[in-house]
Amino acid sequence: MDDQLPPVPPLPDEGPWNDPLPLDMERPWEEDLRPKGLGEFIGQVQLRENLRILIQAARMREAPLEHILLTGPPGLGKTSMARLLANEMGVEIRQTSGPVLEKAGDLAGLLTSLPSGGVLFVDEIHRLSRTIEEYLYPAMEDFRLDIMLDRGPSARSVQIRLEPFTLIGATTRAGLLTSPLRARFGMVGRVDFYPVADLSLIVGRSAKILGVEVEASAIEEIARRSRGTPRIANRLLRRVRDYALVEGDGRVTDELCRAGLELLDVDERGLDEMDRRFLRALVSTFDGGPVGISSLGATVGEEPDTLEEVHEPYLVQQGLIQRTRLGRVATRATYEVLGLTPPPDPQAGRGPGGDRDRDRGEPQQESLL
Ligand SMILES: Nc1ncnc2c1ncn2[C@@H]1O[C@H](COP(=O)(O)OP(=O)(O)O)[C@@H](O)[C@H]1O
Ligand SMILES: [Mg+2]
Repeated sequence: MDDQLPPVPPLPDEGPWNDPLPLDMERPWEEDLRPKGLGEFIGQVQLRENLRILIQAARMREAPLEHILLTGPPGLGKTSMARLLANEMGVEIRQTSGPVLEKAGDLAGLLTSLPSGGVLFVDEIHRLSRTIEEYLYPAMEDFRLDIMLDRGPSARSVQIRLEPFTLIGATTRAGLLTSPLRARFGMVGRVDFYPVADLSLIVGRSAKILGVEVEASAIEEIARRSRGTPRIANRLLRRVRDYALVEGDGRVTDELCRAGLELLDVDERGLDEMDRRFLRALVSTFDGGPVGISSLGATVGEEPDTLEEVHEPYLVQQGLIQRTRLGRVATRATYEVLGLTPPPDPQAGRGPGGDRDRDRGEPQQESLL
């Protein structure tokens, strides 16, 4: 293998263009592109349908929405979905995130200021502290908070009654949620990577909102290179729009689109630099695996958590790696995507556990509970 491929090169200084996590400067325009109602949310048909029923039933019962957990990789629409659910119900939404919510007082402040039926959106809910999580249980179940005052012998708890509310949690790591927390959600909905057809619709919609004219074939090209991720699709669209403005007359033609994407070093399949490093390390450093995620992380210079959360899901979905009980294993497609000849007998799928173990703790198809 070594004569085929140089060792994994050092990290470039600049981040990849297709990082599914939002860049800070992107937040304002990301807001403009968010779908505002269920009808504007493209794709994820089954999830949308389940939520439509849930909303309709809540309206008919004149009750708040049940607590909802949204799971799936970054950039696929979890935050957008939470916002539009509040919109559809015509209620207020307060947003916070697991690591930010440190004190019981912060939680109490958010919940007591929320008008009846409102939504508390907790992003990265798998990162809640245990203490806060325990405060959440009675809040979710009975709309009350039991706040402890003092410690030791003078400790006592006061009970705060809350207006009914809906908790919407979002997580990229459903497997890390404790089971008592998970059990308190009325519904678990999973967002998946989008097929090119859906991404094309998303790019078309965003182009309209941004007021850019984009040729149909260019829309599809952007969709194909977006790693199944709307956030990346929207980012590539903005970059290509700039390119067309500077190098053309502002209209995104097929030719300008390709040239613009070329300049960004975006892979034909939408893989980013870290994806490729990951695959290269698996094949060249570890001979196709099986190898543990920590060893891979050390080789490519990335946190194992980030690899698992951001990079692996797409690579698994594309069949470019397999997760087995013994570790990550290269497939025939891994070699092909790197332009290498697969060994005569790739270990792909041979490891004990094979497919079954792929999504340990994160079932592919999550259903209504
Ligand atoms: N189904 C969709 N239809 C249209 N746009 C979408 C959809 N899903 C995501 N987007 C766009 O992608 C961007 C990222 O979505 P977001 O909800 O922030 O993802 P997440 O919270 O899962 O990381 C948003 O700006 C939104 O405009
Ligand atoms: Mg989000």
